[in-house]
Amino acid sequence: MSEIEWKPQKCSSLPLHLQIYDYMKKKILNGEWTIGTKIPSQRTLAKQFAVNRSTIVTAFEELAAAGLIESKVGSGTRVINNTWGLLASTPPPDWITYVRSGIHEPNMNIIQKINEAEADSAIIRLGTGELSPELLPNKQMANLLQIDIEDTLSLGYEEPKGNLDLRKTISLSLKRKGIEASPPSILIVSGGLQALQLISISLLKRGSVIFHESPSYLNSVHVFQSAGMNLFGIPLDKEGIKHESIGNLKRQHHATLLYTIPSYHNPTGTLMSDRRRKSVLEVAKNEALPIIEDGVYDELWFDNPPPNPIKANDNQGNVLYIGSVSKSLSPGLRIGWIVGPEPVIDRLADIKMQTDYGSSSISQYVVNKWIKSGWYEDYINQIRVKLKYRRDLTINILNTYFSDIATWNIPSGGFYIWLQLQTGISTRKLFEAALQEGILLNPGSVYDKNDQEHLRLSYSYASLEELEKGFKRLSELIKENK
Ligand SMILES: Cc1ncc(COP(=O)(O)O)c(C=O)c1O
Repeated sequence: MSEIEWKPQKCSSLPLHLQIYDYMKKKILNGEWTIGTKIPSQRTLAKQFAVNRSTIVTAFEELAAAGLIESKVGSGTRVINNTWGLLASTPPPDWITYVRSGIHEPNMNIIQKINEAEADSAIIRLGTGELSPELLPNKQMANLLQIDIEDTLSLGYEEPKGNLDLRKTISLSLKRKGIEASPPSILIVSGGLQALQLISISLLKRGSVIFHESPSYLNSVHVFQSAGMNLFGIPLDKEGIKHESIGNLKRQHHATLLYTIPSYHNPTGTLMSDRRRKSVLEVAKNEALPIIEDGVYDELWFDNPPPNPIKANDNQGNVLYIGSVSKSLSPGLRIGWIVGPEPVIDRLADIKMQTDYGSSSISQYVVNKWIKSGWYEDYINQIRVKLKYRRDLTINILNTYFSDIATWNIPSGGFYIWLQLQTGISTRKLFEAALQEGILLNPGSVYDKNDQEHLRLSYSYASLEELEKGFKRLSELIKENK
């Protein structure tokens, strides 16, 4: 119930509380707010509807008198009845129990809050892992669609592994990173996240143990946990995941695979060295431990390209490599790919067909055009320069305002700075305080539930002015809340 677009009309002759009463009654009677639905707090609604809290109190009293809602201390206000429910001989289904019973785990509460706040265009987003709207290539996209729309665009379903021409194009671009992958060993998916989802439901048993860097992006989504798997974090150092203990830990915990983000790691920005990539592959080979290599940030280097992916040295089919255009070209296209041994790709393609019958053919067409025409290469070169500028600007801001309260790394690519606060302030408390002021943060606990002292900062999303203003205010808030 996060998006209430409606607001009462201040100029109407109907009193505000009655307008609110009518609005909520309608929602309840038409079943949108089913029995058990939690109504937002009076304070939230007063803010959302831009009215006094007393107006909401009066509207709630009327709804309670009509028997539609009930308020309980400690558990808030809920819908308890609707007229249809009263008249029907059998009560309506208890949707709230269904909602709680679903197999997939809900997002963490803090991520739900972040997702809600991101819908507010006035908010300064200092942790968002996405290119800023001003960096995305809207004009070129419009041109490309105009020029090519009557070309050979197929509006039908694509083949199970995705559009063949796109897979040939990706096969060629992977060659430049040292990865030999022919089209049958490539599956087009709807972004890196779907790649993980498909792997979790197609290749692994419940109870499997997944190793990952700690902290990790993997903790911010419940893909593996919802499929009944357990995550196990292995620390990072400057060169990437610490590989020495992987063998022992594998035998101890019967791990089933290792998930890693070698280039510009989310959330720490770490770049795994070439040496470490080779060591990790060696351990994985010796231990027969498959690797999922998440390369969604691979293209976003500043001065020098990252070392070749782990997959480039994989001559035994140990590694499943994931790529995506979400972090470089457009997250809205929802196009990514998985590269791996053919039997694995066949299995994943079969499950994908049962899931969504293939990713959008228009999106696949667009991505193919971008890469094949050479536009993508020109565009990504500009993005590298602009992101590097943003990184430098942010590091300057941190040097000015944060040197007495935090430490940080200087990333050589990607979006993220892993800021370590030295003030002992709870990052959860800071998150709330910043949100009150229109600043959205990504606390470290999203990526490691025990983390209390880090923030994932991103210089990719906010405008340059917002970066200046937001980080300055954040430094003040940290000092005020010490
Ligand atoms: C490491 C990593 N993998 C995968 C994804 C998801 O990417 P996509 O938008 O392509 O699904 C993200 C997004 O934040 C990410 O950081």
